[in-house]
Amino acid sequence: MSAILTDRFGRVHDYLRISVTDRCNLRCVYCMPEEGMEFEPEDHLLSFDEIEEVVRVMAGLGVRKLRITGGEPLVRKNIEVLIARLSAIPGIEDIALTTNGIFFAAKAEKLRAAGLTRMNISLDSLRADRFSFITRGGDIQRVLDSIDAAYRVGLDPIKLNVVLMKGINDDEIDDFLQMTIERKVQVRFIEYMPIGHDDAGWKSKYVPLSTVLDRCSERGWEASPFGEVYGNGPSQNYKIDGATGTFGLIHPVSDHFCQTCNRLRLTADGNIKPCLYWSDEFNVRKHIGDDRALADLFLRALDIKPESHEMAKALMNEQQSHMPTLRRMSQIGG
Ligand code: GTP
Ligand code: 5AD
Ligand code: SF4
Repeated sequence: MSAILTDRFGRVHDYLRISVTDRCNLRCVYCMPEEGMEFEPEDHLLSFDEIEEVVRVMAGLGVRKLRITGGEPLVRKNIEVLIARLSAIPGIEDIALTTNGIFFAAKAEKLRAAGLTRMNISLDSLRADRFSFITRGGDIQRVLDSIDAAYRVGLDPIKLNVVLMKGINDDEIDDFLQMTIERKVQVRFIEYMPIGHDDAGWKSKYVPLSTVLDRCSERGWEASPFGEVYGNGPSQNYKIDGATGTFGLIHPVSDHFCQTCNRLRLTADGNIKPCLYWSDEFNVRKHIGDDRALADLFLRALDIKPESHEMAKALMNEQQSHMPTLRRMSQIGG
């Protein structure tokens, strides 16, 4: 049963990322425009019943891991109820959350009790004023409190996502690396991706992640590969000699990891996206209530899944093979 969701390139898909809302309580500079966005009306979002049905059918086809994303997933009302329902589906072994951390501390116990097993938090700066600038008003203390709360309820180790941007936070690489020496966290440096962005803004801020290993050498920190190279996710992991934590590099632009892709995405408005980057989407709504039609839809989505994205071509202004998505990252969930 477990290899049914295999694509043309032999990649087995056992991981579904579910965006539960396109709304967010923040507006990070790389993710949403300053003026905000027009959000989907509530009745356009998949209901908990609909999401549960999609997951039940996918679990029957071999999906084992789920990640709940947004926008900000914790702005969706009663999200712990959805997590509890999904964790009860036979075959589902792992339910993770990617959050900005602002609302997590208050809900940590409930989410853990509902079946949350892992959690990734966005933290693009360790400086309060800069964090507030990047998130357009976010309070870093609430994120730090959420990291503590996550440890308290046994979500360990926490992954911290740092999207590196030239002239914005690339002078904090040392501080984040120092954090891994002192604390049991996994800091993941992420290359800024051209998803729903104006090209000029993205290119001028893009930083290749070779910079992080260069900084390690310059500081005399010996960093060795840690764990599996790609593991279950896109991160290539390292540990500085003697450090308590680890760091990871997610470098889709300079060196893509599509050959190990194991994921499908479900948008909050009910579209299956076979790839984060391309525009292809398959709407589940009209197949709700018909398990066989849903299963066929997922297989059709996989059947057209391209071998890789072409972000590097976007960087070099080269012609791409088809149409990149027009959605913003907050409408996909990363
Ligand atoms: P786990 O491996 O399950 O811990 O999750 P993850 O690292 O994939 O999840 P997270 O939501 O923390 O994403 C971290 C970064 O990786 C974000 O910038 C995502 O957009 C990016 N990312 C996740 N999956 C993919 C993918 O399939 N392709 C690309 N290009 N980027 C991805
Ligand atoms: N490039 C890379 N990562 C991004 N994220 C949001 N937008 C981008 C982008 N353009 C990250 C967020 C969050 C994760 C879901 O995706 O910081 O941690
Ligand atoms: Fe919200 Fe995440 Fe986008 Fe920031 S990156 S605005 S926290 S959805």
